[in-house]
Amino acid sequence: MGKYIIHGQKSLVGEVQISGSKNAAVAIIPATLLVEGKCRIENIPDIGDVKALIDILIHLGAEVSYKDKNTIEINTERISTYKATYDQVKSLRASYYIIGALLGRCGKAEVPFPGGCNFGFRPIDQHIKGFEALGAEIQMEHGIIKAKANKLKGNSIYLDVVSVGATINLMLAAVKAEGVTVIENAAKEPHVVDVANFLNAMGANVRGAGTDVIKIRGVKKLKGGKTHCIIPDQIEAGTFMIAGAYKGNSITVKNVIPKHLESLTAKLLEVGAKVEDFEDSIRVTGTDKLVRANIKTLPYPGFPTDLHPQMSALLSLAEGTSTVTEGIWDTRFQYVEELKRMGASIKVEGRIAVIEGVKQLMGAPVEALDLRAGAALVLAALFAKGKTEISNVHYIDRGYENFDQKLKSLGADIVRIDD
Ligand code: EPU
Repeated sequence: MGKYIIHGQKSLVGEVQISGSKNAAVAIIPATLLVEGKCRIENIPDIGDVKALIDILIHLGAEVSYKDKNTIEINTERISTYKATYDQVKSLRASYYIIGALLGRCGKAEVPFPGGCNFGFRPIDQHIKGFEALGAEIQMEHGIIKAKANKLKGNSIYLDVVSVGATINLMLAAVKAEGVTVIENAAKEPHVVDVANFLNAMGANVRGAGTDVIKIRGVKKLKGGKTHCIIPDQIEAGTFMIAGAYKGNSITVKNVIPKHLESLTAKLLEVGAKVEDFEDSIRVTGTDKLVRANIKTLPYPGFPTDLHPQMSALLSLAEGTSTVTEGIWDTRFQYVEELKRMGASIKVEGRIAVIEGVKQLMGAPVEALDLRAGAALVLAALFAKGKTEISNVHYIDRGYENFDQKLKSLGADIVRIDD
């Protein structure tokens, strides 16, 4: 288990290259199960969740070769099993995409209930409802989701909640189903669009991704031999942008799609930072006087839940009282107790964190309790006076490529120690 040692209050100035989107990559890798022939995927982030999914694909019988650190070729023609094991899926949520992809590929899948960050109850009833609407039979036995279908048939599916995972999983199951599938109240996140673009590049007929109605006309075959380049990671970019908003810092995130970051840009302007948009980069320059703000996380294009903890770290230092309301997950406040060790003043009432800005955070030993909670502690440590030791950084490795090295290149005093 690794840890970061950070000495805070060093100016962070310069440019940072943003990696490919985690949440697109973790869906596109399973989506290759639907394709006959080799797919080449570029801009794959070199992160823990991607490695875990590639291990599952190899276990299923896929051939995976790295052309370089961020380019892979996957050929799933000779898969030999439709079962994943508990050890393979327990660490990550996205393992549920194996179910939709295998259902679409061979009409059966056995995958243990997925793991991932602990935000309270994380149901997958909408995935299951959708698979059943397409004609699959689903059983849960001994912690394993068993799905089978003689023939998948298109249908209309209305999602009761806007779910990224259910939207993508149903697209995967439906691309080769007979007839037309319509997903209503679909998630509109950029990674939903990227998965649809990948599938279409391979010959699928998916229309409307990025709106709340997605129409999928089933095709007989998806053919490989094509290349797909993954979109930039909006949450990694956002994390660096939030770091840039602190006094003395000026960070340019490169290789981003500014449109995907509009909700964050608006909030950073509101707290007093300077934000400059360019064609595929954004520069955030910090302010001496951070101003309070209220935030509510919502499905895209609202403020992303995956930037909530990082924003709380920044608002801990803003003058006045801020609130952060979590609109997606029941509990995403595990990081609060850790920020309090560093001197933050935060009270959680239900789904709302009430943050009284303090003049200064102080370094302390803290623990990363999940991926974005870990990122928030890194930001807090960079803003804080003195030394912070963050344990369990393997959570951060799940979603950030070379986080410490990228921060170091901007001027951070950060050292990683692996046991
Ligand atoms: N929900 C249901 N039933 C379902 C599915 C979801 O009630 O069948 C509820 C959830 O409990 C939640 C809401 O719907 O309240 C949204 O959940 P969603 O399905 O959108 O979340 P997810 O697909 O499991 C993805 C990201 C998360 C991100 C959420 C929200 C991946 C692999 N994960 O999760 O990312 O927080 O969307 O945007 O794409 C992260 O990257 O740190 C992360 C946690």
